[in-house]
Amino acid sequence: MKKVGNHNSISRKIVFSLALMLTFSFTSFSQTTPPATDAAAAPAAAATAPAAGTGDAAAGKALFGANCAACHALDKKMTGPALRGVAAKYDKEWLYKWINNSSALIKSGDAKAIKIFEENNKAVMTAFPQLSTTDIDNIIAYTSEPKAEVKAPGVTPDGKGAPVEESGLSNNVILGALSLVMLMLVVMLFFVNNVLTKVAKANGIQVAEKESSVSLWKAFARNQFLVLVASIFLLLASGYFVYGWMMQVGVDQDYAPIQPIHYSHRVHAGVNGIDCKYCHSAARVSKNAGIPSLNVCMNCHKNISEVSDTTNTDGYGKPFYDAQIQKLYDAVGWDKATQKYTGKTQPVKWVRIHNLPDFAYFNHSQHVTVAGIECQKCHGPVETYEVQKQFAPLTMGWCIKCHRETDVKMEGNAYYTKIHEELSKKYGVEKLTAAQMGGLECGKCHY
Ligand code: HEC
Ligand code: HEC
Ligand code: HEC
Ligand code: HEC
Ligand code: HEC
Ligand code: HEC
Repeated sequence: MKKVGNHNSISRKIVFSLALMLTFSFTSFSQTTPPATDAAAAPAAAATAPAAGTGDAAAGKALFGANCAACHALDKKMTGPALRGVAAKYDKEWLYKWINNSSALIKSGDAKAIKIFEENNKAVMTAFPQLSTTDIDNIIAYTSEPKAEVKAPGVTPDGKGAPVEESGLSNNVILGALSLVMLMLVVMLFFVNNVLTKVAKANGIQVAEKESSVSLWKAFARNQFLVLVASIFLLLASGYFVYGWMMQVGVDQDYAPIQPIHYSHRVHAGVNGIDCKYCHSAARVSKNAGIPSLNVCMNCHKNISEVSDTTNTDGYGKPFYDAQIQKLYDAVGWDKATQKYTGKTQPVKWVRIHNLPDFAYFNHSQHVTVAGIECQKCHGPVETYEVQKQFAPLTMGWCIKCHRETDVKMEGNAYYTKIHEELSKKYGVEKLTAAQMGGLECGKCHY
């Protein structure tokens, strides 16, 4: 039987290509695994931290937060010195005395006390007579804990990791595994089928069901009407997609590039309610809204070197955010330990998101100040963006549509009152849209 021979060679090809795909999926799978094992190793490292001191570190943490955190941090100099490992510097008795009443200890002429007092510009530490020795033991236990590597989900300690990508990666791993399983099932089915056919043949049973599907396809090919309809459908569908793709060229809606510093509008304009024009002050008075210079950032960030614990959302952890503020410090050359500029600066190259072609003219002050349009009307709910993006399509049709729909604000504008009188007579309407004011004239938007 010639047909069976044919069928067999085709099946061999299929098996071969399946095997090929299988090996490829194995290699791509193995490439994606290392980060997973990496992440698994991290908690183990953090868990090796030995328990320290005799006190209760958890209770100490609470006491520290309530009494000491205003002036001390564990790893950073604030008003007072960093306190991690301070128990190694002094004996317990001295620490009890110092914390209960440091001024008294200084007055008593204790050399160590006077030294630390002088070193800190004679800043006075609050006395804590109410703290018992057990309380202080607890605090010391807390300050004696080794520094744990805090790991936010998918964020490397230096803050370089992009969490979104990492979760996408684990999705890829799952997808890869699933398709692998599917492939194996298909291959197994194929072999089972083969074996069964062979067994059937050996037993002299006629297997002929293959013919029916072939003849169905032949019947379709012979029916010219069906073929015509199918090809028209295919043509239309592909035409639709090609058109859609061509109209996409040059339209960058939803463009959201990764910026050199992960600056979050949600944290600033949203959670902390900072006014857009505090940073984009030029929007009111000039064509461009402009990106604030880093000096503007430092107005606040001289004092804000880390985010609060509650800023820990959206898959970005506190270590990630803190590393971003550190990037700002590196850029302006700010040493947060000494609270001084080092003079070593490096520019931050923000990636421009909105960009009209050169032949189009758009002016912010015209829209923001004169027309009184909210930023959000064109830029979307920016105060909710973790990552800034282009909200509007910025096509000509988009500009024109709004000019047709938006009434011009006439109140309190002497220039407009006169034009308004003339034009509203001309159009016979009470209110004028931007379009009727000349907002559709090519020359207004095109140089
Ligand atoms: C009002 C600010 C303030 C508060 C609150 C405060 N400290 Fe201090 N602490 C200081 C200052 C300032 C120094 C440096 C010495 C000086 O100038 O008196 C210091 C020094 C110390 C030292 C010596 C550190 C060293 O490295 O030599 C210890 C220990 C200490 N504080 C523990 C505590 C503990 C524990 C608490 C909470 C119960 C606390 N402090 C609360 C301001 C404060
Ligand atoms: C604390 C300063 C600050 C505040 C407040 C702020 N922004 Fe921004 N904005 C920036 C910085 C820095 C960038 C550049 C980085 C980026 O794109 O995320 C930016 C970028 C933008 C961009 C994109 C610029 C481009 O490249 O096309 C828009 C649009 C924008 N901001 C709108 C707003 C709006 C609307 C508000 C108020 C809801 C606001 N911003 C509040 C600092 C600020
Ligand atoms: C008006 C004050 C103010 C200004 C100006 C300001 N920030 Fe912030 N910034 C904050 C506050 C408040 C937080 C959040 C603190 C928290 O959540 O605990 C913050 C948090 C951050 C963070 C961590 C969260 C995030 O957004 O990723 C970064 C990075 C940051 N700022 C960078 C900048 C940069 C860059 C500029 C200048 C373009 C700037 N900031 C200007 C007040 C300000
Ligand atoms: C009528 C729509 C509209 C309004 C309202 C508007 N913008 Fe824009 N914005 C645009 C367009 C269009 C661009 C692109 C301009 C270009 O490429 O020349 C842009 C660009 C920007 C940029 C990028 C830098 C620049 O100046 O080109 C920032 C930042 C920005 N806008 C912030 C703001 C802020 C803040 C407000 C509110 C005070 C605001 N915009 C109000 C339409 C608008
Ligand atoms: C959200 C609505 C809105 C959008 C979107 C918008 N505009 Fe406007 N535009 C207005 C209004 C309202 C005025 C009238 C302002 C006034 O009172 O002069 C105006 C005025 C203008 C003017 C001055 C017209 C004149 O008669 O002098 C120009 C130029 C202009 N827009 C360009 C643009 C361009 C370019 C875009 C697109 C990139 C755009 N606008 C998008 C609302 C909009
Ligand atoms: C309200 C502002 C505005 C007016 C009025 C306007 N245009 Fe445009 N036009 C634009 C903007 C913005 C673009 C850029 C669109 C883009 O980048 O996708 C554009 C793009 C174009 C393009 C390039 C093709 C395209 O769609 O990208 C042509 C051609 C053009 N305009 C012709 C005209 C002519 C002719 C008129 C007068 C009948 C006119 N425009 C009036 C804002 C305007």
